[in-house]
Amino acid sequence: MTDLARSSASTDRLPQAHLAEILSVVRARLGLDLTGYRPGTVERRIRTAMIASGAPSSAAYVERLRTDRHLARDLLARVTVKVSRFYRDAPAVERVREALAARAAATPGPLAVWSAGCGRGEEPYTLAMLLDDAGAPAGPDVVATDVAPDALAAAEAATYPADALPELPRPFRDRYLTPVLGAGRAAYRVHPAIRARVRTLRHDLSAARAPPDPGRFDLVACRNTLIYFQPALQRRALELLLDALAPGGLLWLGPAEWPALARDRLEVLDRRARLFRAVGGGADA
Ligand SMILES: C[S@@+](CC[C@H](N)C(=O)[O-])C[C@H]1O[C@@H](n2cnc3c(N)ncnc32)[C@H](O)[C@@H]1O
Repeated sequence: MTDLARSSASTDRLPQAHLAEILSVVRARLGLDLTGYRPGTVERRIRTAMIASGAPSSAAYVERLRTDRHLARDLLARVTVKVSRFYRDAPAVERVREALAARAAATPGPLAVWSAGCGRGEEPYTLAMLLDDAGAPAGPDVVATDVAPDALAAAEAATYPADALPELPRPFRDRYLTPVLGAGRAAYRVHPAIRARVRTLRHDLSAARAPPDPGRFDLVACRNTLIYFQPALQRRALELLLDALAPGGLLWLGPAEWPALARDRLEVLDRRARLFRAVGGGADA
């Protein structure tokens, strides 16, 4: 057992100099500044990446990280948590489904939706299904953004294991997914018409100065992403999300997230579903 694997069972902290060096390599080589993230999660994930690399010590890992591009990419993939599933938190999705249907009925053309921190695509494809189900004319109307290249690559591949689907209603599964043979286990491919509604884009909520399309989105979903940020970064990211909303546009957060500092710009549509509406006009929801 390496020293690292041995110390991972304890509460040992990484030497701060090594941690700082790792964060600086991630910033310089991969363009992501992790200093605004919650340090506990970042440190745990770095430690997991170190152990997986087989490096005998954190000093050895840092040394390798400076020159090994694959190792740096592996670290970024591990530090960005991509747990998700289709129709995640079904009761909240149902509330969004109603609100989107109301907005679609009041809007002549396609709706514009942004899934920020889209993970492997389960969320933007769910939203594309809701738009199709609501009869909203096809766009591409869902912009799916993430900072992690492996998340965007998976979203573009649009093929998922069965364990991504437990909450997806059966009629949606039958209508919008096609079973395919994965690597020896059941997998499901997103139907081309739903795939075509989603456009993927790299966008970093911690560094970007603007959303992809300011002031244009009918719905911005940013779920289970802000929780990884410290309060200052949460506030900055929230400003971006708000700047993305069209008048009366909807903001949808994760169950542990709340837009505390945006009282004057948002009204609560559904507290439990974490669904909010930009004040200043829009369709009934
Ligand atoms: C737990 S997943 C959430 C997926 C989906 N929104 C959901 O709720 O099921 C968090 C996502 O946020 C992404 N992420 C982390 N930091 C980010 C940043 N600075 N900008 C954009 N996306 C980020 C991660 O790569 C990951 O895909």
